[in-house]
Amino acid sequence: MPRKSKAVVCRELNKPVVVEEISVEPPRRGEVTVKIAACGVCHSDLSATNGTIPLPPPLILGHEAAGEVVEVGEGVTAYAKGDHVVSSFIYMCGECRFCSMGRPVLCTEQGKALTTLPDGTLRTKDAAGNPLGIFSGCGVMAEYATIHVDNLVKIDPKVPLDRAALVGCAVTTGVGAVFNTAKVVPGSSVAVFGCGGVGLNVIQGARIAGAGRIVAIDTMDAKLEMARKFGATDVLKAGEDPVKALKKLTGGGPDYAFECVGSGELAATAYKAIRRGGLAVVVGVAKPGDSTAVRTMTLPFEEKTLTGSYFGSCVPRIDFPRMLALYMGGQLKLDELITQRYSIDEAPQAFADLEAGKNARGVIVF
Ligand SMILES: NC(=O)c1ccc[n+]([C@@H]2O[C@H](COP(=O)([O-])OP(=O)(O)OC[C@H]3O[C@@H](n4cnc5c(N)ncnc54)[C@H](O)[C@@H]3O)[C@@H](O)[C@H]2O)c1
Ligand SMILES: [Zn+2]
Ligand SMILES: [Zn+2]
Repeated sequence: MPRKSKAVVCRELNKPVVVEEISVEPPRRGEVTVKIAACGVCHSDLSATNGTIPLPPPLILGHEAAGEVVEVGEGVTAYAKGDHVVSSFIYMCGECRFCSMGRPVLCTEQGKALTTLPDGTLRTKDAAGNPLGIFSGCGVMAEYATIHVDNLVKIDPKVPLDRAALVGCAVTTGVGAVFNTAKVVPGSSVAVFGCGGVGLNVIQGARIAGAGRIVAIDTMDAKLEMARKFGATDVLKAGEDPVKALKKLTGGGPDYAFECVGSGELAATAYKAIRRGGLAVVVGVAKPGDSTAVRTMTLPFEEKTLTGSYFGSCVPRIDFPRMLALYMGGQLKLDELITQRYSIDEAPQAFADLEAGKNARGVIVF
């Protein structure tokens, strides 16, 4: 029997999200239905509502959730009713060159299921019976979601589900960018542009990795205060050219800089700021038409690197438990990341607060 479920839907670009009653079909082969307990509101969800991430509406939002399995489809052996799970928004075909080498975030097939389940179909319909797309194979900003087992990771039931949800995007993206993409070494210096849900996790990842100096840059004072709590040793208010200040603070420029806003201009600033041999990592997702520029001669003469990081270059089934182990061990701050909890009916407010920069992370709890 299909389940009735409230869901947060983008109906029309550049309009507030709406909360609708939808129906969610039971799982088919290789799928699982999850009763969602909590779902974080990520800037990428907001970006899907304004065309920065171009996905066609109508679309059920949400890709950072945790919940409990309530029904398993045919052939599912790794999950059972009652298991606690976190959603994972990457498509893994399991067979391409990148899946084979253990880099599923680069799966060549990922374009196939941007708004559907991996097989191209949907289990979600609106009240009129029309199909509703799902953000990145997830669409988990809803009371129930039927998704493929490849978009789930089983977790330790001791972790509270609202905290666990954050591992589905912000934490793994930020900490993973430090651990997996940049491989930050102890004693190094790090600059972080943008201290939202993702940037704060880059900051705490750098702290855990043993970075000596962590400089946070944001336009908002409140974010800089949060950045200090997560491990920033220095803060800079964005505005005037930060390159000079960063070079001075770090004695020649940081070893690593992370762009966590989504702007080609900031990516160029991050690249400019790093020292010789340094690494600039773009984590933010800019508009499709945006571009960036580097002074070409700095590439050979200064051996600088500009790269990107998608979902913290993670392998979900390896990295999610790793992040949660850091939380359970007291090293990773998750309690402090949630600055506001919302009911699903308050979802439009949660998006407005994200846009206004009010939260470290806002989380919808069910
Ligand atoms: N690469 C990935 O896999 C991945 C995953 C998740 C999110 N993202 C992207 O990361 C970015 C950040 O996401 P989030 O959820 O942390 O967003 P957020 O809105 O919570 O945080 C963005 C922060 O950037 C700050 N900011 C804005 N303009 C700035 C500027 N010019 N200089 C310095 N700071 C500035 C804001 O004040 C805010 O604190 C978004 O572009 C999002 O789409 C990427
Ligand atoms: Zn996200
Ligand atoms: Zn693949």
